[in-house]
Amino acid sequence: MGSLNKADLICETIDNGIILLNENLEVLFWNKWLETRTNISFDQISQKKITEVFPDINEAKLKRKIKATLTLNSPTFYTTELNESFFNIEFKNKITHRVFKNMQQNVTLNPYDIENKTVIIYVYDSTILKETNFKLAHAKEKIEKEHNKTLAIKQQLEDSIDEFELLLNATMEAIILFDENYICTNINDVGVELFKFASKTEALGVDILAFFEDKQLNYKKIENTFEASMNTVCKHTFPALIKIKNATFNDKKIRILTVVDLTELKYRDKLISEQAKLVAMGEMIGNIAHQWRQPLSAISTAASGIKLQKEFNMLTDELLDESLDGIVRSSMHLSQTINDFRDFIQGDKEVVKFSLEENLKKDLSIVEGMLKNYDIHVFLECQKTIELYNYKNELTQAILNIIDNSKDALLEKNVKDKYIFINTYELLDEAVIEIYDNAKGISDDVINKIFEPYFTTKHKSQGTGLGLYMTHQIIEKSMGGTISVSNISYEYNNHHFKGACFKITLPL
Ligand SMILES: Nc1ncnc2c1ncn2[C@@H]1O[C@H](COP(=O)(O)OP(=O)(O)O)[C@@H](O)[C@H]1O
Ligand SMILES: [Mg+2]
Repeated sequence: MGSLNKADLICETIDNGIILLNENLEVLFWNKWLETRTNISFDQISQKKITEVFPDINEAKLKRKIKATLTLNSPTFYTTELNESFFNIEFKNKITHRVFKNMQQNVTLNPYDIENKTVIIYVYDSTILKETNFKLAHAKEKIEKEHNKTLAIKQQLEDSIDEFELLLNATMEAIILFDENYICTNINDVGVELFKFASKTEALGVDILAFFEDKQLNYKKIENTFEASMNTVCKHTFPALIKIKNATFNDKKIRILTVVDLTELKYRDKLISEQAKLVAMGEMIGNIAHQWRQPLSAISTAASGIKLQKEFNMLTDELLDESLDGIVRSSMHLSQTINDFRDFIQGDKEVVKFSLEENLKKDLSIVEGMLKNYDIHVFLECQKTIELYNYKNELTQAILNIIDNSKDALLEKNVKDKYIFINTYELLDEAVIEIYDNAKGISDDVINKIFEPYFTTKHKSQGTGLGLYMTHQIIEKSMGGTISVSNISYEYNNHHFKGACFKITLPL
């Protein structure tokens, strides 16, 4: 096989288009590849001007390129714009997913024979490459779009985290987020300050049980508000109001602990209750004065009687005995009043078992003198013997505050026949005490306020507004009971009466 044949063979089998052109653009050679793709045989195009057969070819540009190739004696690219090609070759088998309708081509011109001014043009089918490029570019665009979307979402998330942190720090309570293992995962500024952490980062990862004085967090308490003693980092203990809430966040179970420092409030409470105690003592001294008046005058009457009888020589042994007995009885009464007073002032240190009826009778004996003085009748009706296990003297204080208010109301309203009724009964597992009077009741616009500290409708020389506040604290906070008030209407002795009714329930 000759060398020319070998070159022919290459030209006919190669996967490129090969064209031999002279400077007049006349075709000198046209290989098989082109014949099959353009449906134009070499014979048909031979010696013809290529632009005549393919009018789409940019003649000026092609001429320019040929000139450049020959002058520089080096290969030149015939660059085409996207979707533009050297020849317009339509694909025969139309595949729908094709990006381009026509074959994309890479074209290079090479000097062939400088003297005869011929060039050899190679046409490569670059459709697949361009398609891949196109698809890549498309994909890149898509990815960029997605990426931008992700960025936007990320920004949104970051914004909402910022918002969340802002919210977290806008509250007055300390808020601590912790996981199932009680590990702190987030804390607000109030929390950092309250627990005396140097910074937020110091608090993260800490076991929150360390905050609690009582390490056994009762699960029943979760979701309820409760009071607990808490510790700061420097082991300072303070009273707090706590709420723990379960929540799910990003499929993870978290707990939210809210803490309100009660130190100030407790201090205020203590001040108020000390004040209330003083008020109660003042009232008590008033009661004692009433209580003592009668026995004291009995003693002085007996003593001056003895003296008089002695002067007139009328003092017999019997008379002396009788008078002295009277003095002893009266003194015992005085001493009993002192005992009652002392019990009451000292307050209770521990719970004791006591009979409700006996306790109420003792309460009434303390105010007996005062009530008699104002002509107020008290009716005590105890359905059955009720035994309580609680703070006895605190209950006395609560009852006396209520009776004292009834007395004030009965006098203020100038009620003719003045009554106070006290009934007790058992209901389910509670003891109920109802105390009501016939002083016409409490007006609707103040009835909701009477348990508040310092609320009074009385002149400032008479009212302090602490009696019912203290009563409420004693019944609900110390004794674990409830107290409520309402206005009631009732019949007694064929008369119609209206008055305030205080209802106390206590655990049996
Ligand atoms: N039995 C009652 N009848 C009418 N008003 C009452 C009665 N008990 C209490 N109140 C009202 O409740 C207010 C608050 O009572 P309290 O706390 O004992 O304070 P204070 O007796 O010092 O006013 C009284 O000022 C009064 O207006
Ligand atoms: Mg009062």
